[in-house]
Amino acid sequence: MNSEFKGKRVLLIIGGGIAAYKCLDLIRRLREQGAVVRVILTASARQFVTELSVATLSGEKVHGDLFDLTDELEIGHIQLARDTDLVVVAPATANLMARMAHGLADDLATTALLATDKPVLIAPAMNTRMWEKPATRRNLARLIDDGVRTVGPNEGFLAEGESGMGRMAEPAEILAAIGQCLKAGAGALAGKRILITSGPTWEAIDPVRYIANRSSGKQGHAIAASLARLGAEVVLVSGPVALPDPQGVRTIRVESARQMLEACERELPVDAAICAAAVADWRVEAEAGQKIKKKAKSAPGGLNLVENPDILASLSRHGAHRPQLVIGFAAETENLIEHARVKLTGKGCDWILANDVSPARGVLGGDENTIHLVTAGGSEAWPKMHKSAVAEALAGRIADHFATSRKAAE
Ligand code: CTP
Repeated sequence: MNSEFKGKRVLLIIGGGIAAYKCLDLIRRLREQGAVVRVILTASARQFVTELSVATLSGEKVHGDLFDLTDELEIGHIQLARDTDLVVVAPATANLMARMAHGLADDLATTALLATDKPVLIAPAMNTRMWEKPATRRNLARLIDDGVRTVGPNEGFLAEGESGMGRMAEPAEILAAIGQCLKAGAGALAGKRILITSGPTWEAIDPVRYIANRSSGKQGHAIAASLARLGAEVVLVSGPVALPDPQGVRTIRVESARQMLEACERELPVDAAICAAAVADWRVEAEAGQKIKKKAKSAPGGLNLVENPDILASLSRHGAHRPQLVIGFAAETENLIEHARVKLTGKGCDWILANDVSPARGVLGGDENTIHLVTAGGSEAWPKMHKSAVAEALAGRIADHFATSRKAAE
């Protein structure tokens, strides 16, 4: 039995999708771990699982009707939403996600979601085409901005006989994500100071032009938010991005690689540093004071470039102020693991999250990422996940790292 589950209350909202059957296994696993599970079944979920099986497995009365007089007398819907440690929505169908994103409260499930003051975790599940529709992308982005955490979906066979992204995460993965959320409540990273770089850098050519790259900052910002939710004091040094500053994170906005390095060094010492920024490797040696004219002799073809400082390498070799854990990314288009390993040793960091950024993968600027975690001990392939799920997984790993080193020191 894991201590993060013992005696914890989970309100599970089962949505109306074929993956609802997996929730029966999830309820069983949660109870085995010592959690108390209360369930709300939406009207459409009742087409997939029965109230009897849910009640038998949870050992609790099943809730479903917003206007049930007995329910309201025993435990009002507001209390049901608050008298819990975590709300889990599985499967989070496209319809349920849309209603959540718009703050609708037209049944017990959505009313509880609007009324709750507790963390919410969703396990999306739907057909690939529904998952990829701009409307669903918008709703997901809105939910993530609102602080909702996600687990899955995964790639695989879908009920319609198709294959693709949209399969609900397996009960064991949802259980692990619930464990992370419950640990987060207890502040698994409380007392830890973590520095993270994110986004691109802009290297000025003249007052109106600059060298940049396609990084959106989505991955770095999501990691900052996940670390803050685990109770860490997070400092985010961000290049120019079109994203809002993550909640609970001190964000310092910079433009160039040199400004990013300066800002990072000012924040030392920290317990961990994560370099997720796509720092420009080169800058123009001498930025022109005035706009370079089309007819000028110094056309861009003649730009003289010099190398930028390497922030990751410099933090990894910072002598007395080296963070205990330094993590970098490796953006590659070929020989992923091999190149990541060269970066791990070359830059002197502890972990590298390697990702294939070939245009066909859609990682740069996109919402999903496939990570290989490379350490001195070996490499580990993670399934393709939403960037916020990658962030949650990494934050959990960092919390585990500090918990293990704390135990070793005791
Ligand atoms: N990085 C950094 N400062 C730089 C360049 C890179 O901190 N000037 C960090 C990135 O944030 C990332 C890691 O180093 O964590 C690897 O970045 P990547 O762009 O994959 O590699 P480069 O070092 O730029 O090498 P190459 O362009 O040859 O792949």
